[in-house]
Amino acid sequence: MPITVDSSSGAITIYTDHSSYQMQVDRYGYLLHLHYGPRTDSCMDKLLTYADVGFSGNPYDAGTDRTYSLDSLPQEYPSQGTGDYRSPMLIVRDHHGTYGCDLRCQGHEITHGKYRLEGLPAVCSESDSDDAESLTVTLKNDRTGVTVALLYGVLPHKDIITRSAVVTNCGTEPVTVERLGSASLDFVSGRFDLMTFYGRHAMEHIPERRALAHGETVIGSRRGYSSHQFNPMMILLDHDATETDGNCWAMQFVYSGGFRASAGLDQCGQTRIQMGLADETFSCPLKPGESLTAPEVIMSFSSTGLQTLSHNLHRCIRQHICRGSFRDRVRPLLLNSWETCYFDFTGETLVSLAKEAHDLGIEMLVMDDGWFGKRDDDYRSLGDWYANETKLGCSLSELIRKINEEGLQFGIWMEPEMVSEDSDLYRAHPDWALTIPGEKPVRARYQLVLDLSRREIADAVFESICRVLDQGPVRYLKWDCNRSIAEAYSHGAAAQGRVLYDYMLGLYSILDRLNQRYPDLLIESCSGGGGRFDAGMLYYTPQIWCSDNTDAIDRLLIQYGTSFGYPSSTVGAHVSACPNHITGRTTPLNTRGIVAMSGTFGYELNLTTLSEEEKNEIRRQITDFHRYAGLIQNGLYYRLTDPAHSPVCAWEYISEDRSEALICAVRIPDRGDLPSERIYPRGLKPDAVYTETNTGMSCEAGEMTENGLLLPDSMKEADSILFHFKS
Ligand code: GLA
Repeated sequence: MPITVDSSSGAITIYTDHSSYQMQVDRYGYLLHLHYGPRTDSCMDKLLTYADVGFSGNPYDAGTDRTYSLDSLPQEYPSQGTGDYRSPMLIVRDHHGTYGCDLRCQGHEITHGKYRLEGLPAVCSESDSDDAESLTVTLKNDRTGVTVALLYGVLPHKDIITRSAVVTNCGTEPVTVERLGSASLDFVSGRFDLMTFYGRHAMEHIPERRALAHGETVIGSRRGYSSHQFNPMMILLDHDATETDGNCWAMQFVYSGGFRASAGLDQCGQTRIQMGLADETFSCPLKPGESLTAPEVIMSFSSTGLQTLSHNLHRCIRQHICRGSFRDRVRPLLLNSWETCYFDFTGETLVSLAKEAHDLGIEMLVMDDGWFGKRDDDYRSLGDWYANETKLGCSLSELIRKINEEGLQFGIWMEPEMVSEDSDLYRAHPDWALTIPGEKPVRARYQLVLDLSRREIADAVFESICRVLDQGPVRYLKWDCNRSIAEAYSHGAAAQGRVLYDYMLGLYSILDRLNQRYPDLLIESCSGGGGRFDAGMLYYTPQIWCSDNTDAIDRLLIQYGTSFGYPSSTVGAHVSACPNHITGRTTPLNTRGIVAMSGTFGYELNLTTLSEEEKNEIRRQITDFHRYAGLIQNGLYYRLTDPAHSPVCAWEYISEDRSEALICAVRIPDRGDLPSERIYPRGLKPDAVYTETNTGMSCEAGEMTENGLLLPDSMKEADSILFHFKS
């Protein structure tokens, strides 16, 4: 039983194989947080301390007891207006405009299986062997009648606990929710670091680790989407934790819209970390009877460092977030037209690329931006999702047929959430864009955002996508999103303060309907690369284009950062031409292949201008890809070095049964001379002997982990090497 209630102490404990999470309703009905960490059977209320802290509030019920204060006690779901002056999860205003929502526990319920969230993505469990359970704890504010159902899900064998919260107005007057958080954790002791993942367009997911300080470190996105600037995840870890040692806790948001995450030390040196909806443009009225659901947060704990934490998150994303027929399948090896020819192509160009691609062993051709309306540049036509037959020289159906005749599957690019002012769609429906009456809209990439919070617009977008997909056997859709939202104003909504939240519900409903109608369609999402790389999108699209930066050396750091929370099977990565179009750097084709193969793999360069030598190298890469793809997709991932601080970036995949390992290493440019560098594999079976399958070299596991693998002296800047071992 992963969730138990101790009848003497009243403690509710959620167990996973290697962790436990505990809470307790106290004498005044407040829900206190007792523990999240190493698995224990004790009641951890012994950690609670009571002290008269000056200027901290005491609830009226505590009478003359000035040592009882929510300002210092650890809580499950801190709410504003209770004398806790730290960061709240919930801010509610009543119909007079008065703030405050004192929540007391009403009861709890434990149910078999993992809960689901209406209209929102969430971790799912389809098999009884997961032993998943759910806990609902209900809190209530008597004055307003607001109730909060705190939801907890557990996948015990994956060391995963999820949280969400549903706020309902059970009162008789309207209220407004001004902040809605999903998960909060309080730690009464400990000295921690915080890791977050910052970035920008074409340089996403850069890890940043710092000592936690007094006050709040807040990250998030006010862009309407999860954003390039901060990935919606964070890790709290012991100050001295490493890849292989120490306690670490992760919070990962299963949501693709704006978010707010914070961490910091309070006046007593206690730590609070939180994650939830962005609150700056959020203000959600709830009439009596109405509810609002906070998106889910995935949490995991590891006492053996960051690598185990990542393994837990990877398994969860791979098996319980990603769904559909591609979840466990090696994805098609594709050629994408974007960096190959940008807007400059005809149907004939694509057919000749397909011919060349087939000859090399590539399986799919993806026609990226530029095929519809009058789209020869990025100033027009978004929304006009019908083929430019003059440019293609034929209809879309005919083009699909021609590509198929060359032996390739066909995939297509769309950016369904957007509209160009120069488009038939915008001319017909200017009010479909998110714009503020009386203000000139903010443009970005010269485009506007469609108001998916309105059902009729979401329906029209869904239908326009279906019309494209029904032109023939389209096997893959690249779903792009190339700007942030500036105006959260809907021309049709009743409540402007929830437009961005409803936009996400609209987006998810379209993706959900597409998944149902086209179960064999692979959707790769994209937002100028990794601007919306989150577990919410992965629920509908099992892979995401990780970055518009395809430079293999920059990708080392981008993919390293991504790997903390997301498995390689989700990371869109392609081999592109050199000098790289973004950085101007030239790297060996072999290195570009090894780096792209550590994702979903494909090519994005003009095959028709390659030399015979380059083509042979690509054929060899594709043979390697078929040998290793299963291991890369399903194996455990180890970060062997930190590319920001090491002359070599090395990483490893090992099968769950430890019988097969793939170790990749790239020498990073500009890090000086490199005498006899070694890399140290991890996770091998201790007493096994492994054979390197390309050279026949035999090595004992102990020898390899102790003494490392020596990299050849001949490895120069940007060179790379692969070792493939079998026991
Ligand atoms: C975005 C994507 C690119 C490409 C272009 C097309 O930038 O990230 O891969 O699809 O749009 O306009």
